[in-house]
Parts: sequence; structure tokens; C-alpha cells
Amino acid sequence: MGRFDGKTVFLTGAGSVSGIGRATALAFAREGARIAAADITTDDLAETVDLLRGEGARAEAFVCDVADAAGVTAAVAAAEASIGPIDILVNNAGIAKKRAFGDLTEAEWRRTIDVNLGGTINGCKAVISGMTARGGGAIVNLSSLMGGWWGWNEHVHYNASKAAIEGLTRGLAMEFGPKGVRVNAVAPGFIWTAQALSREHSVGPDGLKLCEPYIPLRRVGQPDDIAAVIMFLASDEARYVTGQTILADGGITLGDLSPVFASLVQ
Ligand SMILES: NC(=O)c1ccc[n+]([C@@H]2O[C@H](COP(=O)([O-])OP(=O)(O)OC[C@H]3O[C@@H](n4cnc5c(N)ncnc54)[C@H](O)[C@@H]3O)[C@@H](O)[C@H]2O)c1
Repeated sequence: MGRFDGKTVFLTGAGSVSGIGRATALAFAREGARIAAADITTDDLAETVDLLRGEGARAEAFVCDVADAAGVTAAVAAAEASIGPIDILVNNAGIAKKRAFGDLTEAEWRRTIDVNLGGTINGCKAVISGMTARGGGAIVNLSSLMGGWWGWNEHVHYNASKAAIEGLTRGLAMEFGPKGVRVNAVAPGFIWTAQALSREHSVGPDGLKLCEPYIPLRRVGQPDDIAAVIMFLASDEARYVTGQTILADGGITLGDLSPVFASLVQ
């Protein structure tokens, strides 16, 4: 018996080879869910679906750009027609592009807002009337440590998009709680994926290693660490939880400066 036997999950950003999306899709599959795996990529997404089927799961690929509302609606409709009504939506697709505020073009900030915030809105729009008609469902959005806690220089558009996702999560939870739909978010800290490993757009592998002494749990997170929180929020164990953003950061926001103080002790 799996926690998600008989449930259908629509998950965006599922193609990421070493990302949170693929890890979460696999974790759902291992617990009995059917997976509609969506991404803008094709080859990596096809590989994810092969892996999901290798776990014995019913899984299909849906290529779409989450920033395109019509494309997301069509992907959800196709998924519902082929593998069943969506019980759980995970809005995981996201981008983080480094750009100093002074150089940030309108096209660049709009793309980040359109993918991160717009993609989350598009996913919610596509599933929510079906969920309410069937009496309920669960939505989990991906925010970030940079949404409600930290600022990130040269990433203000990312900061803003993730903060907005947390507001969206609270508003939707209010509006759809009475109709049985729970809406929550997960805010990952530093996680060992392509996004954070990018030297061009994030901290890169060396930066991640430099963070570890400041993390009370003394390690950068793995995609599975976030998959576990997403699955908790999607599961019946979280039946009385809605409108929340759960920070999963190994404790880095606690402000552990012990490495700094240790350097003072001779
Ligand atoms: N890795 C971290 O440290 C970290 C920290 C905080 C928040 N997050 C968030 O977690 C989520 C997953 O991040 P990740 O680290 O696994 O990233 P990742 O870059 O490994 O994966 C992101 C996936 O989203 C897909 N994608 C990007 N734009 C898309 C679009 N327009 N339409 C459809 N799919 C699209 C990509 O193809 C990719 O498969 C993101 O929302 C990210 O902002 C990550």
C-alpha cells in the first residue's frame, strides 16, 4: 500500500535530470501515484517518464511551457483524459537568472515572473475547477528561501516571483479551502540541483560547499529532502494544513555564525 495509491499527480519541471521535479515524481511513483510529468524539455522529460515506468507507475509526458496558459490548460486536459482526474498538482518548474538590477531588461524580468509566478497561476487555474467539482485536491507550490526570508542580489526578479507565490498560496487557500482544496508551498534552502549548481546564475558547487558550515544540519539539501516535504503537504497527513509555506533549509535561516566565532578562538 502506498500513500498515493489511486491518486493522479500533475507535476511541472519533471524533466530536471538531478532536480527536485524528477526526484519528487519518482518518490510519488514509489508510493503508488500515477504521474503526469510536464516540462518544457522533451528528451529529459522522456527519460523521467521511462524511470517512472521502471518503478511500475503509470506515467505520461506532457511538453508545455508553464508560462503559456493555453498550453498548460491543454496539457492538464490531455492528462485528465488519458490517466485520470488530477488529485494533486505540484507547481515545481522555475528559473533563476542572474542579472544586476540596473541591467535587467523588461523581457528578462517578465520571463522570470511569467514562468515562476505565471506558471504557478496557470497550473492552479487549469486544475482547480476540476478539483472543486470532485470535492477536493491538494496543490503544492515551489517558493524559495529567497521568497519570504532572504534577499538575493542580482536576482530581484526571482526574489519577487517567489514572494508572490507565497501570497498566491495564502489567497488560494482562503478561496478554495471551503471547497476542499488545500494549497501550500515549500521553500527550499540550498539544494544540490542544476539551478544552484549553475556558476553563471547561482552559487555553483563551490558556493554550495561554502554554505555548509553555516547550515545547522551541516549539509546542502538533496532533491529528495524537498520531495519528502512536498509529499507530506500533498498527503492526507497534512489534511489540516493549508495556506502555509514550509521552509526546508537545514536551518540556515537560524543564523548559525559559529564558524565565524570559532575563527576568533585561538
Ligand atoms: N535548487 C535550489 O537550491 C532551489 C532553492 C529554492 C527553490 N528552488 C525551486 O525549486 C524548483 C525546482 O528547482 P530545481 O533546483 O530542481 O531546478 P532545475 O533547474 O534542476 O529544474 C527546473 C525544471 O523546470 C523546467 N522548466 C524551466 N522553465 C520551464 C517552463 N517555462 N515550462 C516548463 N518547465 C520549465 C526545466 O526544464 C527543469 O526541468 C524551482 O521552482 C526552483 O526555483 C530551488
